[in-house]
Amino acid sequence: MKILILNGPNLNLLGVREKSVYGSRSFEDYFEELKAAFPVLELSYFQSNTEGVLIDKLHEVGFSHKGIVFNAGAYTHTSVALSDAIRAIDTPVVEVHISNVHAREAWRQKSMIAPYCKGSISGFGLESYRLALQYFERLKPKQI
Ligand code: DQA
Repeated sequence: MKILILNGPNLNLLGVREKSVYGSRSFEDYFEELKAAFPVLELSYFQSNTEGVLIDKLHEVGFSHKGIVFNAGAYTHTSVALSDAIRAIDTPVVEVHISNVHAREAWRQKSMIAPYCKGSISGFGLESYRLALQYFERLKPKQI
């Protein structure tokens, strides 16, 4: 079961950027832990700071993979193009955020992509990704 974890802008700086909000661990380090924890899922990871590259990646995997776990970073709050891309593909997308976006600035409380995602997980630190993967892991084959 192929699952892509897709990270958007500035998430390449996890472990360096605003540690009080996003923690002190790099995503590459955490990804190794996720791969070990979900041997049944064929996990891959991709990050880009560029909106069009994220759209291309959604198109690339969105008709073959079983799931996408997507942290769109700040594009969450602005991108009509990413929300259209999620609508356009077949693969279900679970929106994740490390911080609790609903407890932050008002503009972070609006997600352009949420209506087109299967569901949203926010506020559990890096564990938000694990919770999203648990959703896909527990699906019976006929449900995906
Ligand atoms: C974020 C929340 C966004 O508002 C912010 O722009 C990010 C990270 C999160 O994971 O908490 O870059 O998506």
